[in-house]
Formats: sequence, C-alpha cells, structure tokens
Amino acid sequence: MINRNFQPFRVEQFLSETEHGVVFNFSESGVHPMSLQGLVELAGIDLDALLTTMIDYPQVNGKQSLRDTIAGLYPGASADGVLVTVGATEANTLVANTLLEPGDNVVCFRPTYEQISGNAANLGNEVRWVDLIESGGWAIDAEALERAVDDRTRIIHVVNPNNPTGRILTEADRARIVSAAERVGAWIVSDEVYAGTEREGDTETPSFWGSTDRVLVVNSISKAYGLPGLRLGWLVGPEDIIQHCWRRHEYASIAASMLSMELADKALAEPARSKLKARARRLIRTGFDVLTEELARHQGVFSVVPPQASAMSFVRFNLPIASEAFSMRLLREKDVLVIPGSRFGVENHFRFSSALPEDHLRNGLAKLNDLTGDILNGR
Ligand SMILES: Cc1ncc(COP(=O)(O)O)c(C=O)c1O
Repeated sequence: MINRNFQPFRVEQFLSETEHGVVFNFSESGVHPMSLQGLVELAGIDLDALLTTMIDYPQVNGKQSLRDTIAGLYPGASADGVLVTVGATEANTLVANTLLEPGDNVVCFRPTYEQISGNAANLGNEVRWVDLIESGGWAIDAEALERAVDDRTRIIHVVNPNNPTGRILTEADRARIVSAAERVGAWIVSDEVYAGTEREGDTETPSFWGSTDRVLVVNSISKAYGLPGLRLGWLVGPEDIIQHCWRRHEYASIAASMLSMELADKALAEPARSKLKARARRLIRTGFDVLTEELARHQGVFSVVPPQASAMSFVRFNLPIASEAFSMRLLREKDVLVIPGSRFGVENHFRFSSALPEDHLRNGLAKLNDLTGDILNGR
C-alpha cells in the first residue's frame, strides 16, 4: 500500500499543519518577506520588460545568466557547476539521492534542520548524530565528530550558520570538519541559506566552497534575501556531480519557475543583493533586542545563547511543561506560534523568529509572557 518506514520531516510537518491563519507567527526561519512591489522598487526592475517574459519551460538546469551570477559568488566555480533548484529543499533532496548508496552513513549535528538526515533515513542509510554543546554556545564536540566519522561516511552535513541555534562555525571547527571529511573521503554538504544574516557584523559567513575538493554547497533566496515564496535555490559543486544531480532534478521538478529565475537574477545582481542583505540584518538586529528584553520579564525562566546569525533564537525554558505541549497551548490559547524543541530532538526549548515589525513582535511576546505566568501559577 504505502511505505510505512517513511520518516516525516518533523519541523516542516509541524509548520505546514499549524502556521496558516495564525495571528502571531514566530515560527518562520527567515526575515519578514518582501512584497513583489518592494522587490521591484529595491532592485529597479523594469516592469515592462518583465511583462514580456515568456511563460515557457525554462532552461532546466537554470537560466544561463542566473547560473553565471551564482557561480560568481563562489571563487573558481563555473556556471556548469551550478544547478538551479526549487528552493534549497530540492537541492538537499537531490544531494541525498545522488550521493548515498546502501551501507553509507551520514554524519549530522544536532540540533539542526533535519532535511539531509530525514532523506538519508528514508533511503535506508544510517544517520549518526553529533550533539552540539549548548553550554559552549552550541559548539561542536570535536571528539564526538571524530568518533562518528568512519570509512562508510559518505556525507558530513553542515548547516552554517545553523538552524535553529544561529551559531556560525569557528575557523577551528571548519578545519576539523574538513580534516574529518578528508580522512575518509566523505563529502561536505554545506547548507548556507543563512549566510548573509549575520547579527553581530557585516562580514558574510565564509562558504565551505574551496575548502576541500569534495564540497557541495546548498543555498537559496529564501532567508537572507527575504524571498521564500519564489521557491528558488541552488547547488554548487564539481561539474560531474552537478550533472548527476541534474538527472534527478528532471524527475523531481523539471525546473524552477521561469518567473522565479527572472526575479532571482535581479535580486542577486548588485546592488540589489547587498541591499537585501542589509535589510535582513536590520530586521534581525532590532528583533533580537526586543526578544531578549521581553523574555527578561520572567526572571530565571528563559535563557538563550545569542545567535550569531539568522532571525532565529533557540530559547531554553525552565517550566514544568514539555516543549510540544507548551507550543500547542501557546497556539490554542494565545494564537502565537513557535516551534517546539522536540521537533529538533531537544527538549525544554522552542525556536523563535524575531526579525519582524516591532509592534507585532511585542504584542505576541506579551501573550507568550501571559501564558508563562499562567503556567507558573499552576493554570
Ligand atoms: C537550513 C535550511 N535549509 C533549507 C531550508 C529550505 O529552504 P528553501 O526555502 O530554500 O527551500 C530551510 C528552511 O527553513 C533551512 O532552514
């Protein structure tokens, strides 16, 4: 009938079942999205020219000029080493389908965005988790990484900056990951969708591209550029591997949409690209300050390792309630949505996205504080 061994994508399942129609949606991972009009104005798009776009099947691996622009972001990459996909989501799925063979294992860090791991599990591959250390600011446990990687490791999956912690890998951590991968000939699959959302400075998180031969980089315009509804992402890698991914892309989606490619081309060209990143960083910085101020109203209940990037904070709470029950009460009683830590395999946490207009953020946080008061008072 159906494949009962299927493992759902637990974060995305939670989101797609709860997020529509909620008044205070703090579950998104990107910044407040742009309107089409906002993008047209910011990028100086010629609307008359846009209206002449033929709604034909686009070039399947991605419009040439868009692939040229993307390749230009990665020193030494060629346009033939770029595949344009339906979001980073499709890119991640293609990578798992392309690289993994029976008996291979995949090494992932927890908590993370569990897409490569979920795909790997559904393909029947072993997933080896390396727990990040919260007391060290969600640092990598170097010894655990060494123990996890062996000669059947095909992929070391990295989300950098990470979802849900917002942590950016240190130079030393990057070097450890490269050396572990090189030791066994594994691929580093680096999901870099949050590069460009740095909270503490304007230096973009360095890509893994160029750090060793076996690297595949995944990215999209969903997060740092605030354009998730265009569903436009990409994969960068060695040309032969990109060709193999392209063959799977023909099965999965044929191509990203023509209009999305047109608009992505404009959004990624300078100066639009820098302006979009500056907008994201602005929203992220004020949003985080409001979040910490509001969470301080209940002393000793909430704590958070400040995210170095992204709109998200992975907030620890000290309340007598499980994270799933906390999120569901918040949704049902207060019309506020956050993602329970359980969806990332970590209890007593929730993921909160704060890169939103300030009034809306404060009003929703007041409701979260109301529920916190109720729980503390045994209600
Ligand atoms: C780390 C990570 N990768 C990929 C995605 C999917 O993004 P896209 O909208 O580009 O498909 C997300 C979305 O939350 C994410 O957090």
